[in-house]
Amino acid sequence: MSKAIQAVRGMNDLLPDVVERWQQIEIAAREVLQAYGYREIRLPVVEKSELFARAVGDTTDIVEKEMYSFEDRSGEHLTLRPEGTAGCVRAGIENGFLHNQIQRLWYAGPMFRHERPQKGRYRQFHQIGVETFGIESPDLDAELLLMCARLWRALGLTDIKLELNSLGTQECRATYRRVLLGYFDARRDRLDEDSLRRLDKNPLRILDSKNPAMQELVAAAPSLLDHLDEASRAHFERLQEYLQAAGVEFAINPRLVRGLDYYTRTVFEWTTAKLGAQAAVCAGGRYDGLVEQLGGKPTFAAGFAMGMERLVELLLQRGDAYQAAKPQVYLAMLGAPAEKHGLVLAEQLRDAGLRIECNNGGGSLKTQLKRADKSGARLALLLGEAEMNNASITIKDLRAGDTQQSVAQTALTDLLKLKFAMGNRS
Ligand code: HAM
Repeated sequence: MSKAIQAVRGMNDLLPDVVERWQQIEIAAREVLQAYGYREIRLPVVEKSELFARAVGDTTDIVEKEMYSFEDRSGEHLTLRPEGTAGCVRAGIENGFLHNQIQRLWYAGPMFRHERPQKGRYRQFHQIGVETFGIESPDLDAELLLMCARLWRALGLTDIKLELNSLGTQECRATYRRVLLGYFDARRDRLDEDSLRRLDKNPLRILDSKNPAMQELVAAAPSLLDHLDEASRAHFERLQEYLQAAGVEFAINPRLVRGLDYYTRTVFEWTTAKLGAQAAVCAGGRYDGLVEQLGGKPTFAAGFAMGMERLVELLLQRGDAYQAAKPQVYLAMLGAPAEKHGLVLAEQLRDAGLRIECNNGGGSLKTQLKRADKSGARLALLLGEAEMNNASITIKDLRAGDTQQSVAQTALTDLLKLKFAMGNRS
C-alpha cells in the first residue's frame, strides 16, 4: 500500500459533527447581520500580493512572514488572502460602490496565514467579517459593537469581554511613534530580539509583545491616549458614552494596537479567558484612510472579523447538545422491486416535508435495521416482498421498544405527518 497523503499542516478538515456547530454560528450571524441591514458580499480568495502589502502594511507580521504568496503561470504575484478587509475595499473601489455611499457589507470564508499552528491558531482559518463604509461618527462604531454583543447573546456566549482603544489619526500616530521610538531606544538593552527588530520599523508593535519579560517595560511606556488629537479624543469619548448608554461593558486597553496597519481611531478586541493564548474571538476597528490609500476617494470605514474556529471551540467546550437535523424516517428496502418502488415512495414523503434516508445498496434486513438505528431516525419503514404484494408498509418504532405496525401505503404520508407533527424532531 502506498503512503496516504495527509492534509497540509495547519489546514483542517471539518467533519460533519463539527460543521453542524459552524452552521449554528452561521445561521445566528446571518440573522443578526440582517437585523442591522447588512448584505453579503463574496470575494475572491486570491488577490494580487501588492494589495496586502499596501493595505495591511509592509512591516506587519502578516505581510513580512505569513502570506501564502506565489507566482502564477502568467508570472503574476498573487496571495491567498490573509484577511478580508483589503479585498472588500479593493472590490468597492473597482465596482464603484463606496464613493458618497453608505454600505453595510459582510462576508464569510477562509483566510490563510503561515503562522505556527497551535490550538485556536491555524494556517487556513475562517472568518465572518463585517465592513461599513461612509459613516464617520462613533454611533457606527457603537452599533458594530452592539451587533457583536447581540451575536454573543444569540449564541449563549457569556464570557466574552470587550477591550477598546483609540489609535487616533495617522498624523497623531506618527507623532506617538516618534515618542515611543525615543522611549524604547533609550532602553534598548531591555528589548528582546523581536522588539529590537520592530523598533525601527514599527515600534507600536512592541506594545503588543506577549513576552512576560517585556511586560514591565511595555506597561511603563508612554500611552497613545495621551497623544490623541482633539477630534479623535472627542470621537473616542462619544463612543464610550454610546456604549455606556446601551449597556455594553468594556475595558480601555491603551496597549491594544492590532496587527494590521490600516486602523485609525477606534480599535477593539473581544477576548475570552477560555481559549488559552488565542484569546481574541473577534477584532476590528476604524480604517478611515484605507480606501484612499488603495486608490479610492476618501471614505470613512469601520468593521471587524470574528474567528469561526475559536467561536466553534467555545460552543464545543460548553458541550450543550445542538440537535442536528437527523432523518426522521429510515426506509429499508428488500429486493429489487421494493428498491424501485421505495425510491418513488421516498420522494412522495419528501414532498410532504419529511426527512427520509433510504437504504441504498441493499443488504439483509438485519444490516438495514442496524443502519436505520445508526442514522438516528425515529422510525424505520420496511418494504419487502410481502409489503409489495399487498401495497402495505411496515412501520417500526426504533426508539420505543421496537413496536411494529402495518399500514396501507396510501395511508402512510398522512400517518407520518401526524406522528411528526407533535413537535418531536428525533
Ligand atoms: P484579525 O485580528 O487579524 O483582524 O483577525 C480577526 C479574527 O480572526 C481574530 O480575532 C481571530 O479570532 C481570527 N484569527 C486570526 N488569525 C487566526 C488564525 N491564524 N487562526 C484562527 N483564527 C484566527 C482582521 O483580519 C481584520 N480584517 C478585521 C477587520 C475587519 N478590521 C476591520 N474590518
